[in-house]
Amino acid sequence: MHILVIVLSLINFLMANSIKIKKKINKFNKIITVSGDKSLSIRWLLFSSLANGKSKAKNLLLSQDVIATLNAIQTLGIKAKIYKNECVVYGRGFNGYKYRKNIVIDAKNSGTLGRLILGLLINSPNRIKLIGDKSLSNRDFNRIVDPLSKFGAKFKFNKTKNLPLSILGSENLKPINYLENRGSAQCKSSIIFAGMRTNGTTIIKAKKSRNHTELLCKHLSLPIKIKKGKNYDLIKIKKVKKINKINYNIPSDISSAAFFMVLTALSKNSELVIKNVNINPTRIGIITILKIMGIKIKIKDKKIYKGEKIANIQIKSSKTIKPINCPAKLNSGAIDEFLIIFLVAAKANGISYFKNLEELNQKESPRLFWGAKILKKMGVKTITTKNSIKIFGNPDLEINKKIVIKSFLKDHRVFMTSVIAALSFGGKWVIHDKDSIKTSFPNFLQILSEMKKNN
Ligand code: S3P
Repeated sequence: MHILVIVLSLINFLMANSIKIKKKINKFNKIITVSGDKSLSIRWLLFSSLANGKSKAKNLLLSQDVIATLNAIQTLGIKAKIYKNECVVYGRGFNGYKYRKNIVIDAKNSGTLGRLILGLLINSPNRIKLIGDKSLSNRDFNRIVDPLSKFGAKFKFNKTKNLPLSILGSENLKPINYLENRGSAQCKSSIIFAGMRTNGTTIIKAKKSRNHTELLCKHLSLPIKIKKGKNYDLIKIKKVKKINKINYNIPSDISSAAFFMVLTALSKNSELVIKNVNINPTRIGIITILKIMGIKIKIKDKKIYKGEKIANIQIKSSKTIKPINCPAKLNSGAIDEFLIIFLVAAKANGISYFKNLEELNQKESPRLFWGAKILKKMGVKTITTKNSIKIFGNPDLEINKKIVIKSFLKDHRVFMTSVIAALSFGGKWVIHDKDSIKTSFPNFLQILSEMKKNN
């Protein structure tokens, strides 16, 4: 072995559900592929469940959120199976859901499943109960209940307007005019789904957010019209009669690629190519932000696949990292990547500022809070308000102490960010709830251990 011998020691210890990291990663030069895009995997399953006939997907993300979606459509009477390397959904048409009374759908940890599926259940003749795990049960569902009630659906709650809840649809749905002001793709998509089931034209003025639902509607030639504005899009959707089956080869998830992009940027003399990544312009906030911070990133071999942009991402380590005053208009395109971006700011040669981040505390855990907490444990000075953070970067940051990360509501992105921090800055880390990666990126640790081989 020619360069330094062992790169990282990811050792299962005590309870198998924690990992211990004692060493930084050594330099690497690799080509990797990360798993399928979560947003697209969930949407493909939902659209296929409404299609006529057999839809097939390759490279579907086999994570807990996606399996929960598969189970949800099965509960609604749709046959769906995972074979060796493809998933098949046997759709029965746009009105093909068939289910008993009193069914329960468990969205587990997935805000996307929980929120999108309510839109599709807007005409349900029976009450359907929606439940989720501890994290999802703490998240805001009023953002969905409010517009769907305007269509004519009825909701019941236990106490607050969170999960568990139950929805009773209506046969007399009225199209709505709605202003979606948070930049939430989940909210926008749920309303689009409800609009697809409603006579007349539903009109949504939606603050910019990821647009996979709209692209799939267009690809399937559904009656959708989109007028793009500077900060908002105007979307008009009419009642859908039929959806054709849809075969899809799911590209890789930029939100998973992000961890390895940052690991490369923060490591010495390293280079990485991540293949076949979905670089939809509404998702590439991390690329824009890292480039502003002086990181060398190249987008190669671009192609368009069913309306989505796909490319290989090449990234190199950076000797100097510039601080950023991050423009708020980049927030929505990087909303799942801020925790990992904060690590880059920790090594910048100055103070970085991220603002208008109220949505970050609406995620699987309050992530602005957790971002600040991890940085504090690393010895990085921050000033936080309820929607902003100032990070005082230190280009010579080295950690020489023990750091324990626990009680973070099993948020997968908190876990993976902590692992990347340990491998980039050193120190002796104990990170709990390893299982949380099953939510979005089950082979995260496996890819990391492949990256240490033969460096
Ligand atoms: C998602 C939208 C985003 C994102 C989530 C996935 C989607 O949430 O954070 O991980 O697939 O629509 P919001 O729509 O609530 O911003």
